[in-house]
Amino acid sequence: KPIVLSGCQPSGQLTLGNYMGALKQWVSMQDDHDCLYMLVDLHAITVRQEPEALTNACLDGLALYLACGIDPQKSTLFVQSHVPEHAQLSWILNCYTQMGELNRMTQFKDKSAKNVSNINAGLFTYPALMAADILLYQANQVPVGDDQKQHLELSRDIATRMNNLYGDIFTIPDPFIPEFGARIMSLQEPTKKMSKSDDNPNNFIGLLEDPKKLAKKIKRAVTDSDEQARVYFDQAEKPGVSNLLTLLSLATGKPITALVPEYEDKMYGHLKGDVADAVVALLEPIQTRFKVLREDRAYLDSVMKEGAEKASARAATTLKQVYNALGFLPKP
Ligand code: TYM
Repeated sequence: KPIVLSGCQPSGQLTLGNYMGALKQWVSMQDDHDCLYMLVDLHAITVRQEPEALTNACLDGLALYLACGIDPQKSTLFVQSHVPEHAQLSWILNCYTQMGELNRMTQFKDKSAKNVSNINAGLFTYPALMAADILLYQANQVPVGDDQKQHLELSRDIATRMNNLYGDIFTIPDPFIPEFGARIMSLQEPTKKMSKSDDNPNNFIGLLEDPKKLAKKIKRAVTDSDEQARVYFDQAEKPGVSNLLTLLSLATGKPITALVPEYEDKMYGHLKGDVADAVVALLEPIQTRFKVLREDRAYLDSVMKEGAEKASARAATTLKQVYNALGFLPKP
């Protein structure tokens, strides 16, 4: 089976964007792939976190993965900091990553522009840790949204560079980016991506949001000023309407080409109402499962423990090969 690895930053506020771009794919890959999914708490501290809030965010994130359908019987589910090999390999990869490469990362440019008071070295070398996450498991495929594409290309470059120097120590990972849903847009500003760190909460939908509130947000989403108010898919001309059609298609499983004719004589309001209903129908069962799982700390602990053990055994094998290849003196 091909090896799949991916991760999200820990948060109970994962958005519909995270779900459509990543989690939905993760769930669907579980049966015919060897999947490893993690909560990247080491990445999360590249911005300042309150310790207690971070602990809770990890528990929320884990319960949410499970509620969305990640099955620990099929997939290895773990917390990044529970597997020390991630930090160990990331140091090594840092030494094979150029400052110039990291400087070109658009996410670093965006995040450092937004957060001028804490542009730390970890924020800068974040992609080397992400490369370590992937390369430790010799992953073949990495399911992510569009915004992680550049980081993944850098992971491939680092792996290729090290293979050229030391022989085939790493599998070169391929990105797995869905055709639809890889970039869910903001509800109020549909030319930028939906993000949980957006200052305006009307721009995003959290997976755990109250159904009435989230339906209201969708009904208030920006469409456009086309006087005929026609519903069709055109991301350049109609970014808001196209985003709503994408959400409806992903939430109902109907292709966009089948949906568009249904709105021929209808108004934007109809479309928004249907999107709101479909998203609520998608999220309500997830929220119900989440509530039960989040209360069961013993179960969450057992999932994390087993996941970390399985992941660590695999990561240790790769790390050892890398240590040998670099000529580190074996521990007697
Ligand atoms: P993060 O936590 O920002 O996002 C998690 C996943 O959600 C996707 N995503 C979206 N997809 C569609 N539309 C959106 N609006 C949207 N917003 C977010 C992201 O592309 C991502 O797939 N660096 C990563 C986490 C990470 C990782 C890894 C991923 C760390 N190590 C190794 C893959 C492999 C991140 O911060 O994702």
